[in-house]
Amino acid sequence: MNRIELGTVPTPLGELPESMLACTIRKEREGEPAKSMQIEEVPIPEIGANEALVLVMAAGVNFNGVWAAQGKPISVFRMHKDPFHIAGSDAAGIVWKVGSDVRRWKPGDEVVVHCNQSCGQCPECNGLDPMACSEQKIWGYETNWGSFAQFTKVQAQQLVRKPKQLGWIESASYGLTYFTAYRMLVDRAEVKPGDHVLVWGAAGGLGIFAVQLCRLMGAHPVAVVSSASKAELVRKLGANLVINRREYDFVRRPDDTPELAKHRQAELKRFGGEIRRLTQGKDPDIVFEHVGRETFSSSVFLAKRFGKIVICGATSGYELDFDVRHLWMRQKSIIGSHFANAYQAERANELILDGRIRPVLDQVFEFHDTPQAHQLMKENRHQGKLAIRIQAPK
Ligand SMILES: NC(=O)c1ccc[n+]([C@@H]2O[C@H](COP(=O)([O-])OP(=O)(O)OC[C@H]3O[C@@H](n4cnc5c(N)ncnc54)[C@H](OP(=O)(O)O)[C@@H]3O)[C@@H](O)[C@H]2O)c1
Repeated sequence: MNRIELGTVPTPLGELPESMLACTIRKEREGEPAKSMQIEEVPIPEIGANEALVLVMAAGVNFNGVWAAQGKPISVFRMHKDPFHIAGSDAAGIVWKVGSDVRRWKPGDEVVVHCNQSCGQCPECNGLDPMACSEQKIWGYETNWGSFAQFTKVQAQQLVRKPKQLGWIESASYGLTYFTAYRMLVDRAEVKPGDHVLVWGAAGGLGIFAVQLCRLMGAHPVAVVSSASKAELVRKLGANLVINRREYDFVRRPDDTPELAKHRQAELKRFGGEIRRLTQGKDPDIVFEHVGRETFSSSVFLAKRFGKIVICGATSGYELDFDVRHLWMRQKSIIGSHFANAYQAERANELILDGRIRPVLDQVFEFHDTPQAHQLMKENRHQGKLAIRIQAPK
C-alpha cells in the first residue's frame, strides 16, 4: 500500500502505508496561512517506546496553527530541526500502533489527543506538574508531526477516551481550548460558586468553554463578544450577562492624544458601569484573559479588589502596557496559565464524556481546505471551533 485514501479507515488494523498526506509549513513559505500551509506527501513517522501512532479521523483548528503558519512571533523551525512542520494540536482518531512500553492503550482504541508533551522522567513530571518539565512542549506547535496529516505521532500519556456520543469531528474540536480553559479557571484561578467571571472572546475557542465551566461551577460568566450572532451563541451556552465590546471605545492606542486617552478611560468606565449594571453592582472576581495588548490594561482596571486576572495568550500582542497602580493599590493578582497536564485533561474530558460540557462546532472543512480554515481563524471570521475532516468518512 503506497498511501491510504482520505475519508477511509484502511484494513487490516495497524497496517501502514509507505507515505501519507500532510498539510505542511516550510520555512521559505512562512506568511499568511492560506499560502504558507500546503498539502504534500511525507513519510510516516517512526514511534518510540512510549509513543503511539494515531490514524487521524479529524483535527481541530487552533490559533497556534496561525502562529506557526506566519512564523510569528517566532518560527516553529527554531523549535525543531525538521525540514517541514505539520501543525495541529487537536485530534480524534484510532490508535494504529503503540511503542513497546505502552500499557494503557492498544491498536483500535478510539481516542482524543491532548497536546502536552513532557519528558515523564524528571522530578517536575513526577511530583510537581508535567507543565513544569524543562522539556515541556505543545505537540503540533513546538513539535513536528501534529494532527493535520493522515497519521500523527504522540506520547501515550496524551491520549484520553473519545466520547461515544460525539462524532469524530466534534471529538477533534475541543481538547486544546477546553483543557486550557479548565486549568485556567479550576486550577489556577480557583473559580468558586457565586464568582463573577469576565470572559473576553466568550464566543471564541476558549470562551465557549469558559462560559460553560463557569455555569457548571456555579459562577456567573459576564460574556464579552463583538456581534449579535456571537451574543446569541453565548446565551445558548448559558451566559445571561452579555456585552458587545463594539459599543465601547476603550482600546488605548500608542499615539492617543491626551484628549483621546481621556475619552478611552471614560469609555472603559462606561464599560465597567455596564458590567456592574448586569451583575447588580459586582466587579469581576476573575478576568479570563487571552486577548493581550488590546484588553489587558482594561482587565487589570476592571477586576475587583483582590481579584484575579488569569491569562494564557495574547492574540492582539504580547507586550503589555498597564497602570500598575490598579494592581497593587487594589491587591489584584495576575496569574499565568498554559494548556493543562494529563490529569487535568482527563478530569476535564470526563465532563465531556458524561455530557455536562459540550463542544461547539462552527464549521467543518475538508483536508485540502486546512489553510483556508486557518485564514478564517486569523481574520476572526468564526465562532466556536473549526475542524478538519481527514480519515472520517463523509
Ligand atoms: N497558552 C495556551 O495554552 C493557550 C491555549 C489556547 C489558546 N491560547 C491563545 O489564546 C488566544 C485565543 O484562542 P482561541 O482559540 O480562543 O481563539 P479564537 O477562537 O480566535 O477566539 C478568540 C476571541 O477573542 C476575541 N478577540 C479577538 N481580538 C480581540 C480584541 N482585539 N479585543 C477583544 N477581543 C478580541 C474574539 O471575540 P470577539 O471578536 O467576539 O470579541 C475571538 O472570538 C490565542 O492567542 C491562542 O493562541 C493559548
